[in-house]
Amino acid sequence: MANDYIVKDINLAAFGRKELDIAETEMPGLMALRDEYGESKPLAGSRIVGSLHMTIQTAVLIETLVALGADVRWASCNIFSTQDHAAAAIAASGVPVFAIKGQSLEEHWDYLDKSFMFPDGPNLILDDGGDATLYILLGARIEGGEAFGVATSEEEEAIQAQIKKRMEASPGWFTKMRDQIKGVSEETTTGVHRLYDLVKKGQLPFPAINVNDSVTKSKFDNKYGCKESLVDGIRRATDTMMAGKVAVVMGYGDVGKGSAASLRGAGARVKVTEVDPICALQAAMDGFEVVLLEDVVSSADIFITTTGNKDVIRIEHMREMKDMAIVGNIGHFDNEIQVAALKNHKWTNIKEQVDMIEMPNGHRLILLSEGRLLNLGNATGHPSFVMSASFTNQVLAQMELWTNNEAYKNDVYILPKHLDEKVARLHLDRIGVKLSKLDAEQAAYIGVSPDGPFKPEHYRY
Ligand code: NAI
Repeated sequence: MANDYIVKDINLAAFGRKELDIAETEMPGLMALRDEYGESKPLAGSRIVGSLHMTIQTAVLIETLVALGADVRWASCNIFSTQDHAAAAIAASGVPVFAIKGQSLEEHWDYLDKSFMFPDGPNLILDDGGDATLYILLGARIEGGEAFGVATSEEEEAIQAQIKKRMEASPGWFTKMRDQIKGVSEETTTGVHRLYDLVKKGQLPFPAINVNDSVTKSKFDNKYGCKESLVDGIRRATDTMMAGKVAVVMGYGDVGKGSAASLRGAGARVKVTEVDPICALQAAMDGFEVVLLEDVVSSADIFITTTGNKDVIRIEHMREMKDMAIVGNIGHFDNEIQVAALKNHKWTNIKEQVDMIEMPNGHRLILLSEGRLLNLGNATGHPSFVMSASFTNQVLAQMELWTNNEAYKNDVYILPKHLDEKVARLHLDRIGVKLSKLDAEQAAYIGVSPDGPFKPEHYRY
């Protein structure tokens, strides 16, 4: 089909291709999979719908899936995260992609719908945050007679409208899609929560692989990725002096740990809030003051949510913040900050994804990416090297779902440890890591094979 894509400007493809070529040199895991499986094409016959930030790194993922034999269509999972030159390069290569930085919520769901439009429909989903899975499963349940819940956000209104549109255009479509999907691999913590919730309710109709909880994903991307990309986002948005400022990081999970380290590395004085005593103790013993938001809200300069939870920064907090406080989120969804409650205030747009909002007491807030994940909204997300580890897990998960499908029930699985170790191993050479070897006696003494796996399942890294 001619022009089976929606991108900002196809003329950006050449620039995208140059950055893609550079990214490949930093993504050894993906390139190794191309070497290993490029000829045997284990993904031949698969039709993968991808819903994941359409960045340069994702472009290398897409081209790896294609190199392994997959047919691919793609949408972004966030309205602000697309890199238009990456989308253009992918579109120019002939892979249908539907993604524009700054697309509306309506377009978000329309583009996701378009990414399902293989002539015979997809048979696998590669998801980030669970929107592609949600779209199909909610639509199929509505077709099955369930009523929509009352929409409580613009997001919910938009997905409901898109489902109604598709149901009118193609009755029975969602049920058909649901029944032909063989599985989903999920990228992030928030999407994984949704999958376990579906299992609990008996509503997961196909196997799922939780990529997030591969050690080489969450203990690297969520942590070291945010360590580089959080401050990058704040700087590109505000050019503010970070050193000396007081920053509050809400949540000290993997993303919180990376975010707090990012701000500390830039010279900010960092405080942390937590609800989990284990993570609070970790933060304290990493040298961060663990506080209540209420106690620091009027004195801190920068506020970053990393919890994957909702209503963490509420309107009553924002009313107390000092003039020109910076507020942003790096968790998956924007509901960590009560942005909707600010809608009646005076907004001044400074530049794309940066707004200044005047509070009733005259204080102004700088809100980044309207509360959506700011490392992808205000900067370009994580660097290629760490995304290579994440996406190598993604490709292995897709291969597993496609070539070994009958081994899985309708449940959520994590890739086996030997594959996790393989992903790490593929990234050592690029940074000159020399790995020591166990001799047979040492291996027997600690009860492992000299070739791994080197840790029991319960080990937490
Ligand atoms: P996690 O579960 O490891 O950490 C979240 C932490 O927040 C937990 O320790 C929890 O106890 C804490 N928390 C929950 N509610 C809280 C509250 N009201 N106040 C203070 N702390 C609270 O999850 P992870 O992996 O750190 O992910 C967090 C979010 O970031 C998720 O939405 C995930 O999908 C997203 N994510 C974003 C990335 C990005 O590049 N922007 C990369 C990876 C994940």
